[in-house]
Amino acid sequence: MTTTPAPLLDVQALGKRFGGHEAVRGVSFRLAAGCIGGLIGPNGAGKTTLFNCLAGALKPSSGRVLLAGRDITGCRPDTAFAAGLARTFQIPRPFPEMTVLDNVMLAPPGQLGEQFWANWLRPGAVRAQEARTLAAARHWLDFVGLSALEHQSARVLSGGQRKLLELARVMVAQPQLVLLDEPGAGVNPALLELIVNRISELNRQGVSFLIIEHNMDLVARLCHPVMVMAQGDLLVSGKAQEVLADPRVVEAYLGAAA
Ligand SMILES: Nc1ncnc2c1ncn2[C@@H]1O[C@H](COP(=O)(O)OP(=O)(O)OP(=O)(O)O)[C@@H](O)[C@H]1O
Ligand SMILES: [Mg+2]
Repeated sequence: MTTTPAPLLDVQALGKRFGGHEAVRGVSFRLAAGCIGGLIGPNGAGKTTLFNCLAGALKPSSGRVLLAGRDITGCRPDTAFAAGLARTFQIPRPFPEMTVLDNVMLAPPGQLGEQFWANWLRPGAVRAQEARTLAAARHWLDFVGLSALEHQSARVLSGGQRKLLELARVMVAQPQLVLLDEPGAGVNPALLELIVNRISELNRQGVSFLIIEHNMDLVARLCHPVMVMAQGDLLVSGKAQEVLADPRVVEAYLGAAA
């Protein structure tokens, strides 16, 4: 008898209300390991709220979230992160006074060096872990093309470079699934190409993604399946070309623009 592996992400009837407003209305979908899923929809559709519920920034009002079969519903962001689910923000906010390198080194959860007693009881282990984190941070900065800026303060980074910094920061923790909230927003065309290329390369290396994006070219090039949300509901899911031609999707965008 063969057993089907659990999907990497299994979202079951997820709902989120803010007072009387239902921002996410019983959304269900599954994402298989190895996918780059897309999540599109007009402004205010509930996309970022859904991400916040998946990654622990908000507690869902209803429903369940399973990551590789493990129930992570309503868990804290650091717990979701440690379980292998990382996310980036629609508006990245690195610590501007810290260097680019230090911003990337902030990421890994459960660092021994942060445990008060570990510094006295296991100083060798703390130093070894810090060395590993430094090596990983440098590796991922190189991967996103920011090595030359590692000693600059993060405030010098452009919008696109901040998106790349966030990608490097989450990769240090070796996540299974990365949620990217508008990686292409406000990014110049050359850096956008680099971001697309880096996401594809990470996917080849086995990392799965779910990407919120308004840039349909990016979505069509990278994402399958593409899911469309409107007014809190998941409208359709499928191939980019098919969902973009779906009359319900066209109507949702036109309705939101009216
Ligand atoms: N913390 C909050 N408190 C109250 N309402 C909120 C909160 N966060 C989001 N909302 C509302 O929930 C709805 C969905 O917002 P959300 O930010 O998830 O949309 P979105 O699909 O990410 O839009 P965009 O494409 O503009 O980023 C909106 O009506 C928004 O005003
Ligand atoms: Mg959003």
